[in-house]
Amino acid sequence: MTTLRDIAEQISNCQRCPLHYSRRHPVPGEGPSNAKIMFIGEAPGCHEDRQGRPFVGASGHLLEELLNDVGIQRHDVFITNVVKCRPPGNRDPEPEEIEACKPFLEQQIEIIRPKLIVTLGRFSMQRYFPKASISRIHGQPKRANGRIYYPMFHPAAALHQPRWRAALEEDVRRIPDLLAELEAMSGATGEDAAANAVDDNYEQLSLF
Ligand code: URA
Repeated sequence: MTTLRDIAEQISNCQRCPLHYSRRHPVPGEGPSNAKIMFIGEAPGCHEDRQGRPFVGASGHLLEELLNDVGIQRHDVFITNVVKCRPPGNRDPEPEEIEACKPFLEQQIEIIRPKLIVTLGRFSMQRYFPKASISRIHGQPKRANGRIYYPMFHPAAALHQPRWRAALEEDVRRIPDLLAELEAMSGATGEDAAANAVDDNYEQLSLF
């Protein structure tokens, strides 16, 4: 059975896209393999590239602070990105880079089977809601396959725009209610509904 460690190993040997030439460290993501919540960001930045860990710069600090405010600890969630290596100069990831990295994210989701997938920013949002605009759909949970998909602004955007920071704070405050809803759902069906969730028909979410 493939483990998160196996995937991290594959990522460190990966040469599927040009980002491997310039990366210092790949950033596979971190967190428990049974995390209920998975956060998906965009791509590692400078600090992440140095440390090989996701969200360890200013955006990460903000995310951690907002989560702590609602009683969620960083070590209880899984945090990763759509692209596992830093794009030079922090440019946006190219569609080919996202595509090349996709199997790693898919495998991580398959192993962790999170009940709640929170997308941070437009690149991870596009995975589930390809045509949507983040300013229109942020904070609107989408329920599918026994799982909740929840688009939020990227913390980096919130650091630059007070308006988006307020929106991010408000969206984070709803997370405990979403978790409670998922718990109630598992209880009602007598099984862990999310454990049966599959991520392969997420395209239907584009109807959102
Ligand atoms: N921004 C991201 O999208 N991911 C990180 O890991 C850090 C900053």
